[in-house]
Amino acid sequence: MKTIELKQLLKDMSLDEKVGQLVQLSGEFFQANDISYGPITKLGISQKVVDLAGSVLNVAGAEETRRVQDQQMKMQPHHIPVMFMSDVIYGYKTVYPIPIGLGASWDPKLVKEAFNTAADEASAAGIHVAYAPMLDTVHDARWGRVLESPGEDPYLNSVYAKAMVEGFQENFENNNGVAACFKHFAGYGAVESGREYNSIDMSISNLYQNYLPAYKSAVKAGAKMAMTSLTSLNGVPSTADEKLLNELLRKTWGFNGIIISDYASIYELVKHGFASDEYDAAHKAINATVDIDMKSPCYANSLKKLVADGKLNEEKIDESVWRVLSLKNELGLFEDPYRGTSVARENKSVLSSDKRELARKLASEAIVMLQNKNDVLPLNKNEKIALIGPYSTDHSLLGMWAVHGEPKDSVSILEGIERYTSNVTATKGTDINRSREMLKEMGFPNEEEISKVISNQEVEHENNEEALQLAKRADVVVLALGESTLEAGEAGAKTKLTLPENQLNLINEISKLGKKVVLLVISGRPLVLTNIIDKVDSILECWFPGTEGGAAIADILFGKANPSGRLTMSFPYSSGQEPIYYNHLSTGRPVDDSQHVGRFVSKYLDAPAAPLYPFGYGLSYGKVTYESMSLDKSVMTHAGNIEAKVVLKNDSDWDCQETAQLYLHDKVATIVQPVKKLIDFKKVAIKAHTKKTVSFSISPMQLTFFDNYGEEILENGDFTLFIGSNSRDCLAKDFTLTD
Ligand code: NOJ
Repeated sequence: MKTIELKQLLKDMSLDEKVGQLVQLSGEFFQANDISYGPITKLGISQKVVDLAGSVLNVAGAEETRRVQDQQMKMQPHHIPVMFMSDVIYGYKTVYPIPIGLGASWDPKLVKEAFNTAADEASAAGIHVAYAPMLDTVHDARWGRVLESPGEDPYLNSVYAKAMVEGFQENFENNNGVAACFKHFAGYGAVESGREYNSIDMSISNLYQNYLPAYKSAVKAGAKMAMTSLTSLNGVPSTADEKLLNELLRKTWGFNGIIISDYASIYELVKHGFASDEYDAAHKAINATVDIDMKSPCYANSLKKLVADGKLNEEKIDESVWRVLSLKNELGLFEDPYRGTSVARENKSVLSSDKRELARKLASEAIVMLQNKNDVLPLNKNEKIALIGPYSTDHSLLGMWAVHGEPKDSVSILEGIERYTSNVTATKGTDINRSREMLKEMGFPNEEEISKVISNQEVEHENNEEALQLAKRADVVVLALGESTLEAGEAGAKTKLTLPENQLNLINEISKLGKKVVLLVISGRPLVLTNIIDKVDSILECWFPGTEGGAAIADILFGKANPSGRLTMSFPYSSGQEPIYYNHLSTGRPVDDSQHVGRFVSKYLDAPAAPLYPFGYGLSYGKVTYESMSLDKSVMTHAGNIEAKVVLKNDSDWDCQETAQLYLHDKVATIVQPVKKLIDFKKVAIKAHTKKTVSFSISPMQLTFFDNYGEEILENGDFTLFIGSNSRDCLAKDFTLTD
């Protein structure tokens, strides 16, 4: 539709219709037969609101979206098509590893491809907007949603933000792309004590330095939508934060897309004690330029009244409606409300063999080898394998936010191993979790469902016995353990980051047999593995690896793929260290460099200050060493770059992929600086028994930091550059910045 026609449409719309465009309802409202009961009453809206709703949440599938589109367009006086929006967070039907695993690949090119193919599937299924990427920087593994984030580093997350947005939107024009909706603006990852929906309080410098860059990168990459967060930031709920949304996001960063509230977050302004009632909440959110109200009655029931009462200028509503209509127009919905969907196109797109192949490659790149004593891995196909654990045959490898993915489509670990050898026997060994209280909290609704998880409530070790017998007869034991799907993700906060008691017992018993033991960890977050590392030989952190998870794990186990994943979140030594992250500020009394000795330094009495495995860490078969770091100059001016070089030496028989990481430390600054911060990285292939020189060009703009007014500043002085295989093990060189 031409702009002039779109403007005319806006003029012709009644206020009710306009408000409708700003209301988003979920699928239950649009089912064929039960629209007049239940959900409508529960939400406190009228049938008219349902009829005029401008967008629909989490309805998918070519057939269903076409049906709802027909139904809604008939009801709307101007027959305006609805937009379908959905949580396509790390894949649609083909599910890739959870984002914290995608992060560990350090492979933005492949991640872009993943988002591109997810958009292909989702758009074929009628989805127009995907609620991703989730770009909340995460420091605290107690928070269940670390699963959804690429990790703890603002620079790396910014690189992924660009890749993810571009991947989604690349084919936007020809119906194969989806609009990216980055989230949760802003700072949701910093919820206090890792407790879900808790508040956030942080310095402006910290906000700008660590939390805003990834969102900003999404804006720069052209993301068409933004979602607010469910939380308050420095005392103001993001959903009503005019300074954050209008001043910063729109005016300063130039974002001209749609801002949508998170689920019911406008209504929750009342619960926050920031608005007195729904009417006040709607007023505050629209003033903050939130365009769409997701799943709350506030806009539907109050916007019109606010205008009638003279409290809201209708132009304000027009601005939001214009943004909504503009995206519909960009999507081509006025010409083709189905956007080229058909069941045939959908069937052809979903789970196609090229997507499965990509999922397998990404899952193997996401796996991080944390330990490999005596080179127990890779396995030899002739070895007799006992595969033991709740994840040995289970297909639930997708993780909590794979809303549209189906476990039945995934490759289990046993199936993956069987592609290499028939010399394997498998048993569950123990349950995923035997705590009835925890299962209840996780959302298992009743005794019947709980008893499906806890196999025999009376006999604690019944399964273990069978597993021990199997292990005794094997050459190597592969333990497939971890968290349950519902233990991570939204509302999956925990204070204990170890495996559950029953799984630890199983490890103990198996370790006494003197067999070689490989531990596969399926988890949505960094776990505390401290008490396990001496009991097993090898550890692979596999995350929730997605549709091709079992195949990828087997590729690593048998050495078809050489592990190259590197952590993007620190793995704590103990839960009490959380939040723990590598780029923390320098303290006055660092553990290893203080004028004080013994007690009076920044440490714990009962645990080291450092994590068990640092950011950037991961092993490969074969080892690459770093040597001969050099800088082309020791003085940088504001006009010129300096070049840093390092030689990577692969003395092993394995072709390796190595991620060389470049970190910076600013020695003296007007705001205390991080001990290290990542400013660049290169993932390179190095053939067996060869060397490769990796170089980085560093510009003055990479030396800036943010002050407590949010200003980005560059200060002359002394800096250290580090290059290494992780944030702990680095070579270093100093240089000076002058005018
Ligand atoms: C709430 C979550 O916080 C958000 O990430 C998600 O996109 C919405 N629900 C919609 O499902």
